[in-house]
Amino acid sequence: MANGLMTVSYIAAAILFILSLGGLSRQDTARRGNFYGALGMGIAILATITGGGVTGYALLLPAIAIGAMVGWALAVRVEMTQMPELVASLHSFVGLAATLVGYASYLDPNAHFTGAEKSIHEVEIFLGIFIGAITFTGSIIAFGKLRGSISGKPLMLPARHWLNLAGILASLYLGGQFLAAEGSSGLLSLVLMTVIALLIGVHLVMGIGGADMPVVVSMLNSYSGWAAAATGFMLSNDLLIVTGALVGSSGAILSYIMCRAMNRSFVSVILGGFGTGGGSTSSSAAASGGEVVSISADETAQLLTDAKEVIIVPGYGMAVAQAQGVISEITRRLRAKGVKVRFAIHPVAGRLPGHMNVLLAEAKVPYDIVLEMDEINADFPDTDAVLVVGANDIVNPSAQEDPGSPIAGMPVLEVWKARTVVVFKRSMATGYAGVENPLFYKENTRMLFGDAKKSVDGILAHIPS
Ligand code: TAP
Repeated sequence: MANGLMTVSYIAAAILFILSLGGLSRQDTARRGNFYGALGMGIAILATITGGGVTGYALLLPAIAIGAMVGWALAVRVEMTQMPELVASLHSFVGLAATLVGYASYLDPNAHFTGAEKSIHEVEIFLGIFIGAITFTGSIIAFGKLRGSISGKPLMLPARHWLNLAGILASLYLGGQFLAAEGSSGLLSLVLMTVIALLIGVHLVMGIGGADMPVVVSMLNSYSGWAAAATGFMLSNDLLIVTGALVGSSGAILSYIMCRAMNRSFVSVILGGFGTGGGSTSSSAAASGGEVVSISADETAQLLTDAKEVIIVPGYGMAVAQAQGVISEITRRLRAKGVKVRFAIHPVAGRLPGHMNVLLAEAKVPYDIVLEMDEINADFPDTDAVLVVGANDIVNPSAQEDPGSPIAGMPVLEVWKARTVVVFKRSMATGYAGVENPLFYKENTRMLFGDAKKSVDGILAHIPS
């Protein structure tokens, strides 16, 4: 491909990536955004492999075919609840690629840089490998934690902040040695720094607790972007620089938004130590001093048909039970009877950003009745019935009422202000953050125990179409 055509293709791909990010920020344009992203990536790959300097097609084409097949198989098989794991594992590939490209650039016999150019190239290599190696092991640990094969509890080594600081200082020292080295004699410093960066990646994410994992995944997303941008500098590939910067900055902005939604500072998330593995069983009602009152599916159906205003709060349990389709049908029937039904979405409901929106869109719930927390939180006092479907942490009043709670200050949906709240869950177990929930013991709360899918099926059977 001629150079001019390649530049045009790269610009087109960069524009499509920007349009993709814009599209993905809204539910009704997300599908289009996804298409733009895929098209941009297709153009980028085609332009790169047909560009000048690429010769090893015998290796390249089978590698692309294998990669495409693995990607296809994963995308077809993955459940929505496993999405964060998949994203974490993909980040590890970006980190590994940045590290390997860094070594390849350093050892490239055809590269003949001198003077300032040589120093800049070596700084790019050093930074690319440093960020890439942290992203690689950090993402593998995040994958293990999200999958449950590594405990969600934060690993609290006695001098953990000092260990991280020592690692960074040692890497800085090795960076100085690397830049001062002649020829390829800096390889030892590079290898030592890589080992340290791999350990920092493990230690950094091991120190972060269950409830902060969404922020970690988004932070690793940002790191993977910066690693890709550094690779772009090494390879003098403008598109990789632009794409890396887009991923790096959008990941950083998403991390910031999530931290704000959990009322946590970014620095305290990175320094870790918050949250547990989650899912422990509540000890007793004594902590809250209230009583648990249960309700049946037909009583809940009656409550809903008698109501004028209903708000449904979906959470992780709705995704596990795959209850969204039946909930959509209940919503349709209630609306047909004149009941005003809306959905309240907490920014960190479920296990990935936008998790609930995707499920509700899949179940064909109209977009205009799906509202974000800030848009609907003030309406709970005027609501007759709230259904909390498999949500827990995001409706926990102790975030506001108990300054000693680990989730104190986290913005939550104020469901307890409604006339009646029905909580769908299987037991009295805690949610992801492992924190007791006094909502279950409030006077206006009713518990509908059982798998959420069975519960909504039971309700639907009592609401005639
Ligand atoms: P959680 O606090 O995790 O609570 C989910 C509840 O669903 C559990 O209490 C569980 O109770 C119930 N449940 C599970 N399976 C069920 C089923 N089949 N039927 C009925 N109920 C079921 O969820 P949430 O309120 O959505 O809050 C999200 C939490 O995850 C936050 O702490 C957040 O920080 C964290 N997190 C969020 C993300 C993102 S980006 N959204 C990513 C990772 C982590 P039982 O076991 O008693 O049924």
